Amino acid sequence: MQSSKSQSKRRDGLVAVFIGATSGIGLGTLKQFAKQSSSPQIYIAGCSESAAASILKELESLNPKGTYVFQETEITLLKNVDKVCEEIKSKEEKVDLLFMSPAYITLGERNDTIEGIDISYALTYYTRLRFTYNLLPLLNASSAPRVISILGGGLESEIDLQDLEIRNNFKAQKAMKYSTTQTTLAFEELANSNPSITFIHKYPGFVNTGAIGRFLGSQKGLFAKPATFFKWFLLPIVNLMAVSVDEAGERGLFLATSARYPPRNPTSGGVEATVLPKGAEVAEDIEGSGVYILGPSDDSKRFTPALAALRLQGASKIVWECTLSVFDRAVGASG
Ligand SMILES: NC(=O)c1ccc[n+]([C@@H]2O[C@H](COP(=O)([O-])OP(=O)(O)OC[C@H]3O[C@@H](n4cnc5c(N)ncnc54)[C@H](OP(=O)(O)O)[C@@H]3O)[C@@H](O)[C@H]2O)c1
Repeated sequence: MQSSKSQSKRRDGLVAVFIGATSGIGLGTLKQFAKQSSSPQIYIAGCSESAAASILKELESLNPKGTYVFQETEITLLKNVDKVCEEIKSKEEKVDLLFMSPAYITLGERNDTIEGIDISYALTYYTRLRFTYNLLPLLNASSAPRVISILGGGLESEIDLQDLEIRNNFKAQKAMKYSTTQTTLAFEELANSNPSITFIHKYPGFVNTGAIGRFLGSQKGLFAKPATFFKWFLLPIVNLMAVSVDEAGERGLFLATSARYPPRNPTSGGVEATVLPKGAEVAEDIEGSGVYILGPSDDSKRFTPALAALRLQGASKIVWECTLSVFDRAVGASG
């Protein structure tokens, strides 16, 4: 893989916001970003202050010139997302990178927060889009801003535009499918009105982050024994085929900094910030939109039949309007 340093000029004082970076792909990318950036200002929002202490220590040793702020909060609640964003807005004039990967594996039924959004659905879609929406003014103030969601780019599928909140037949797997499809559509809609921002929706492929082991270890009742067997005897073999967290982190850094992913309308400062070296090519986005849908090896996944059918129905606008109405209701509900 090409190093991000060879792809773009090193920019001083980048401001980055990481959501879901206390483990897995987010943490791998966070460490690479801290190591390779010059005097970065990095905000990390998550719910585990204990995990954060060792992460902050490691970041400081990776790059003592960086500033690292951990904001402890339950990010499944949009009112908490708002507070985190307000704090960032009070301290920063721009945000260069918003990198989001929070999630947990569940096969369960609906489990709503007090704001009326299922927790797993919030983590993979509503929380991420609320951060994006709130930080748009700061992202637009950057010379080369990027929003990256690590989820299921290229795996978009048919969704019911009349039931985007999944009030009928909710299943966690269905919420994952809706999160994936809505992420791409919402990014397309946001890119229309924010043409200087690059939006990337990435499916990482199989990465050995330990998430499957944690899921298997949490199984109870009838499933507990087969899950334990799978965890200790089969998973180590399956994991041999997985990408490591370190490699996923390098790939994350590449997406965050490479000139392969320009926005629809780069600002003049942005063009200077991310110059393509000779021989390298700009990646294919969705029809010049600055929205990139990427598979495991960063292959472009612009043309999925389900997306084409949804676009004919004006789905981007419908999805975004529904998302905004969920935001209003949720924030109203939690006061
Ligand atoms: N890993 C793969 O093979 C793979 C494959 C396909 C798609 N993906 C997608 O890629 C993304 C990242 O996956 P990953 O494997 O890196 O995940 P991961 O290792 O499980 O990390 C998920 C992050 O989300 C946070 N999180 C989970 N529940 C939370 C909650 N209730 N409140 C706040 N934060 C919470 C975790 O915080 P804690 O550390 O505090 O738990 C952690 O920082 C996910 O969207 C996943 O669906 C991953």
